[in-house]
Amino acid sequence: MQPLTTQHLVTTGPKPIPDPGLHVAIISDGNGRWATSRGLPRSAGHRAGAESARKVIQAAPRLGIHTLTLFALSSANWKRPPAEVNAILRLLHEYLLIETSHCIEEGIRLNVIGRRDRIPATLRQAIADSEAATVNGRRLHLRLAIDYSAREAMYHAACRFYKVTELSPESFSNVLAEVLRGGSMEVDLLIRTGGEQRLSDFLLWECAFAEFVFLPKRWPDFSVADLESALQEFARRERTRGALPDAIAG
Ligand code: IPE
Ligand code: MG
Repeated sequence: MQPLTTQHLVTTGPKPIPDPGLHVAIISDGNGRWATSRGLPRSAGHRAGAESARKVIQAAPRLGIHTLTLFALSSANWKRPPAEVNAILRLLHEYLLIETSHCIEEGIRLNVIGRRDRIPATLRQAIADSEAATVNGRRLHLRLAIDYSAREAMYHAACRFYKVTELSPESFSNVLAEVLRGGSMEVDLLIRTGGEQRLSDFLLWECAFAEFVFLPKRWPDFSVADLESALQEFARRERTRGALPDAIAG
C-alpha cells in the first residue's frame, strides 16, 4: 500500500463549503423518553425525532449555519436491543430515500461520518448514492453521524498518521477528515437536548473550542425557535480561544 503523504491528504476528502458560517453539531437526545412518557414505543420517539431533524435541517441555512452535524447513531448504541437499533437504521434509510432529491433542490450536500462496515449493505448503498447525488450542494453541508465514535475515529487516524511525512496538527486533522470521509471541521456550537450534559464520544477533536448549549427539552420537542435561541446564546458568548478578550477585540 502507498504510504500516505501530506500531498495525498490535501487533495483527498470532501472540500469544505467556502461560504463562511457556523458549524453547529447536535446531540439529539431524549427520543426514547419522549415516547415512553406518552405510552408509545421508543421507535415512535425516533420517528418523531426524525421530524425535528427535518425542520432543523430546513431552517439551518437561513440561520447562518453552513455545516450541521447530527448524531444519528452512536457506536455505543449497538448495546441497545437489536429491534431498536434496526428501527433507527430503517428510519435513516427512509430519510435518505425520501430526502435526497430535496437535498439536491435545496443545495444541501450530505455526508455520513462513522463506520460503514456494520450497517446493512442496503443502507451503505443508499448513503453512497445520496453522497454522490448531493456532492455539489453549497448552501449547507449536512453530516449525519451513523455508527460514529470520535475516539475510534481518532484512534484510526492515529494509526494512519505515523506514515505521514509532515507531522502537524493540520495534517492530523486532514488524516482524521480522511478517516471520517465527511471531513473533520471545527465545531462552533454544540447543542445537546434531553437534559444530559456530556459529549458521549461525539466530535472530541472538533469540539476543542466549541461553545456548549444543553437543553432539558427532549429532541422531538426541539423546534426551530429553540435553535434560534441557542444561536442567540452562542452570539452572546465571548470566544477567546484562550487569548485575552482584548486581543480578540483587537
Ligand atoms: C437519542 O434518543 C437518539 C439516539 C440515540 C439514536 P435516545 O434514544 O437516547 O432517547 P433517551 O435518551 O433514551 O430518552
Ligand atoms: Mg439518550
